[in-house]
Amino acid sequence: MVMSVRMAPPPLPLIFLLMIHNVFSENGWGVSYSPSHICALKNSSVIMSCTFTYPTGYQIMKVFWTKNPVKGKEPPDLSKDPEYRQRLQYLGDKQQNCTIRLSHVTQKDQHMYCFRFITDKPDVKWIGKPGVTLTVTDLQVEAPERVTEGHNVSLTCKSSCTLTDRATFIWYRNSQPLTERRDRNNQLLLQSVRREDAGRYSCALHGHSYISPAAHLNVTYAPKNVSVSISPSGVIVEGDSVTLSCSSDSNPPAKINWFKGRTFVGSGRIYNISKISSDHRGEYKCKSTNEHGEKYSDVVTLNIMYPPRNVSVSITGSGVIVEGDSVTLICSSDSNPPALNFSWFKENQSSAVGSGQSFSALQSGRFYCEAHNQHGSQRSDAVTVTVKGGHNGVLYTAVVIAVGCGVLFLICIIMFMRKRKGSAVSDVRQMQLQQPSSSDRNHFEDGLYANRTDQTSGKTPESTDTMKLKYTTIQHIRNNESNYENLRIHHPDSAVRSVVMMDKLVIYSTVK
Ligand SMILES: *[C@@H]1O[C@H](CO)[C@@H](O)[C@H](O)[C@H]1NC(C)=O
Ligand SMILES: *[C@@H]1O[C@H](CO)[C@@H](O)[C@H](O)[C@H]1NC(C)=O
Ligand SMILES: *[C@@H]1O[C@H](CO)[C@@H](O)[C@H](O)[C@H]1NC(C)=O
Ligand SMILES: *[C@@H]1O[C@H](CO)[C@@H](O)[C@H](O)[C@H]1NC(C)=O
Ligand SMILES: *[C@@H]1O[C@H](CO)[C@@H](O)[C@H](O)[C@H]1NC(C)=O
Ligand SMILES: *[C@@H]1O[C@H](CO)[C@@H](O)[C@H](O)[C@H]1NC(C)=O
Ligand SMILES: *[C@@H]1O[C@H](CO)[C@@H](O)[C@H](O)[C@H]1NC(C)=O
Ligand SMILES: *[C@@H]1O[C@H](CO)[C@@H](O)[C@H](O)[C@H]1NC(C)=O
Ligand SMILES: *[C@@H]1O[C@H](CO)[C@@H](O)[C@H](O)[C@H]1NC(C)=O
Repeated sequence: MVMSVRMAPPPLPLIFLLMIHNVFSENGWGVSYSPSHICALKNSSVIMSCTFTYPTGYQIMKVFWTKNPVKGKEPPDLSKDPEYRQRLQYLGDKQQNCTIRLSHVTQKDQHMYCFRFITDKPDVKWIGKPGVTLTVTDLQVEAPERVTEGHNVSLTCKSSCTLTDRATFIWYRNSQPLTERRDRNNQLLLQSVRREDAGRYSCALHGHSYISPAAHLNVTYAPKNVSVSISPSGVIVEGDSVTLSCSSDSNPPAKINWFKGRTFVGSGRIYNISKISSDHRGEYKCKSTNEHGEKYSDVVTLNIMYPPRNVSVSITGSGVIVEGDSVTLICSSDSNPPALNFSWFKENQSSAVGSGQSFSALQSGRFYCEAHNQHGSQRSDAVTVTVKGGHNGVLYTAVVIAVGCGVLFLICIIMFMRKRKGSAVSDVRQMQLQQPSSSDRNHFEDGLYANRTDQTSGKTPESTDTMKLKYTTIQHIRNNESNYENLRIHHPDSAVRSVVMMDKLVIYSTVK
């Protein structure tokens, strides 16, 4: 006879379904199990409560538990089974209590367990069938694979058994118990999920050592904290290899785009510039984008240093000055940082003749400058400065005197030859000296053209007036070495061109 009775839940939450099989024979033989069906949590201890009866007049010789008895075959004693020997404990007696405890149950323990007793009378033995059915369950965390930041999510601790209301759940994130969390039955509610909520979640039942396998909760969110780092840090000099790295915090990983100003220049977390030039100077930023949003980094400015280039000298005026004046030369260059040191050189002279961005040239010559900054230097092309009437000095004076004497001597010879040939006009033309105008001619003739007055008879030939002069040279002859104190030389069409007075004689010729 088999009887099923529902009873109130036992103290242990792991017992879910309670049935008592009162197995009694009419002759007073029987075994009863309470409960007859046990669902136990993995690794827990299970108590199988059991009582048995037998008619008076018998002595119990042997009691033991067996599993899955098969008809016609002597069932083996479980306590002899190495799988159970360590875990099985007989708690009852040999009179009526046949309770046992099985500890550290696993899925392999899912069987029907029966109690058997043997009397002193030959072949009088009993097995209580059906026995206790053991089911072993584990816990599983049910959670969405991913949740977007700010959303609500609930995690469920699931078991294949129906757990009682008395069961208290414990939740873990990354193996740390969550104390401050409110849970409802077997659910953990996370409101307005944050990034920090991501992790491995597991659950357990209070009072049990078993912890469920962890479930990963993936919290996705738009990029945050986007920033650019520059390598190498510090001063960047033209020609360097520069790497810009964009870091951003996002889930799923973001796609990175690079901008110079507002212009797209590349994509990927790393933006390499292998040989940087000043053209790369500017403001850079990266943009991090995923399915939840996008975010720009702050702007970083690439300032590329380079040595001076395009060094040039600018000159005030024409570069031709008269003696005693000076001409200012200015050195300009393109460099970063701006060149602060300048050196001035005269061509073919090894040592510098000046420093500073501007330089006053007092002498004739070809000058160039050299601009320096901490990254290098470059020199300009040379410019020519010509000083007219410049050079004082004993040697130069001597040379001038010698040349002056030479010219005078030449003039004398020419005069002499013209006189002899009778063709003074053409000789004057060959000298390419312009004819003086009539008013000034007397002064002139006093010196150079003493004999010419006869030839020209006071009238300048038409051809002489229109004659184009070809050379200009200026010579200085000291006053005391020359008769020509006030020499005026006229262009045929114009007024006085040049007057050299006092202590110098000037002889002009002009190239046209
Ligand atoms: C059987 O023995 C166990 C352990 O000693 C005890 O807890 C249980 O109450 C007993 N059962 C009965 C029905 O006496
Ligand atoms: C999350 O739950 C709270 C409280 O139940 C509710 O006020 C809120 O609107 C929920 N948020 C979302 C995104 O569902
Ligand atoms: C099983 O329980 C014992 C204590 O009863 C504990 O030391 C052990 O870690 C548990 N094993 C597992 C896999 O939970
Ligand atoms: C941004 O990231 C850096 C480094 O990873 C961190 O130190 C900083 O706290 C983060 N800032 C914010 C606002 O998350
Ligand atoms: C989270 O989910 C995203 C989107 O599926 C995936 O790309 C990312 O690798 C996941 N992160 C983790 C830590 O599993
Ligand atoms: C960027 O440059 C670095 C260093 O030169 C190199 O290791 C890296 O592979 C480069 N990355 C790309 C994307 O070119
Ligand atoms: C500077 O020199 C470079 C070549 O060295 C030339 O390409 C550039 O046009 C120059 N710039 C100026 C402003 O002269
Ligand atoms: C400087 O020397 C070079 C050759 O070394 C020569 O060609 C040039 O004419 C010289 N310049 C001056 C101003 O002497
Ligand atoms: C500039 O000149 C000064 C003095 O000659 C020197 O100390 C300094 O190092 C120079 N600076 C550069 C950038 O060349």
